[in-house]
Parts: sequence; C-alpha cells; structure tokens
Amino acid sequence: MLYRNRMMCRSVPITHRAGRKTDAPTMARMARNYVEDGLKWTWRPRRIQRLLLDPEATVLVAETPRGAGTEIAGFAIMRHGLENAHLSLLAVHPYYRRRRVARNLLERLEDIARRSGFGEIRLEVRTGNHAAREFYRELGYRELTCLPGYYGGRESALQMARELPAPG
Ligand SMILES: CC(C)(COP(=O)(O)OP(=O)(O)OC[C@H]1O[C@@H](n2cnc3c(N)ncnc32)[C@H](O)[C@@H]1OP(=O)(O)O)[C@@H](O)C(=O)NCCC(=O)NCCS
Repeated sequence: MLYRNRMMCRSVPITHRAGRKTDAPTMARMARNYVEDGLKWTWRPRRIQRLLLDPEATVLVAETPRGAGTEIAGFAIMRHGLENAHLSLLAVHPYYRRRRVARNLLERLEDIARRSGFGEIRLEVRTGNHAAREFYRELGYRELTCLPGYYGGRESALQMARELPAPG
C-alpha cells in the first residue's frame, strides 16, 4: 500500500512511505537490536521480506534525510487478521525517540485498519518493556492478558488492544 506524507516531528523532517524490499535488512537489524534484544532473533530479513510482499500486511516506514540520502528513523508492520488487525513490529531508532515517530506511525496504521473495517488492533509486548507499555497505554491501549513464556520460553508477553472507532 503506497502511503506518503511529509511532516515535521519535533524539528525532524519525516516522510512516511510504504516499506520496500531493500528496507528489510535495516528493519531486521532494528528488530534484533531494539525489540528482540536478549531473545532469539526471529525477525530476520527473509521474514520481513515475506510480509513486504503479503497483501494482508501493511509495512510503513518513517524516514528522514541523512547526508545525501535518507535513513529509516522507525517502522511499523501490521497484519490484517480475520477478526482484528495485529501490530507485529514497531521500532524507532534511539536517536529519533520521543519525537512522536512511533505515535505517528501507529496512528497511520490505526487509520488504515479502521478504513479496512477492523474494530480493534491487538499486539503483544514484552512484560519487561516498560517504555513500550507506557507508550501503548498513552495511545489508548489496554492490557488484556499475560501470555507466559510467549517469547521462546524466555519472557512473557502482555497482550494489549485498542478499540478503533468506526470510520466517520
Ligand atoms: C516504544 C517506542 C516504539 C516509542 O517510540 P517513540 O517514537 O520514542 O515514541 P513517541 O515519541 O511517539 O512517544 C509518544 C508518547 O508515548 C510515551 N512514551 C514513549 N516512550 C516512552 C518512554 N520511554 N517512557 C515513558 N513513556 C514513553 C510518552 O507519553 C510519549 O509522549 P511524550 O514524548 O510527549 O511524553 C520506542 O521507544 C522503541 O522503538 N523502543 C524499542 C522497540 C520497542 O519496544 N518496540 C515496541 C515493541 S512491541
């Protein structure tokens, strides 16, 4: 799905666009370093590439100018399930945190989910990831249940969800 919008995030110029096959190695590296640190690395480039080709997934990138080119400040992946949308991955490079990069990515995905007819978006977060839990709470997500050993038996997950208003 093509999605472009240019805006300023606390003085950082951010462009939103659909993920591309060439983004997969960077996304996988960010997933390993910022989402799966201390766990088995499951979000490898090939897995992400599959989602980039999957019509039932939306991959959104927030990029920013760097030198003569651009770099990925953050990205998010949402899968369109049968009953709800599911946020599979969300990560922001540490340099760009607390500049509303994640908020803007997630709000865009919520909008896409809503317009696709979903009434709810769900996700799992590591129970020890207090920053992410606080972020999701701030965006209106509520804690549903604890999933013991969800991450390869090493850590539990907290399932969270947010009801989406019907498209107006
Ligand atoms: C969690 C994460 C995605 C947040 O990204 P971000 O771009 O920094 O978040 P935003 O700037 O959009 O934050 C929006 C609000 O969420 C809350 N929030 C975000 N990070 C927070 C933190 N570390 N501690 C407490 N509250 C936080 C704040 O209320 C913030 O608003 P404020 O900055 O005006 O106070 C980012 O820290 C990250 O990539 N972490 C590592 C990967 C990860 O945990 N991904 C989610 C796994 S499911």
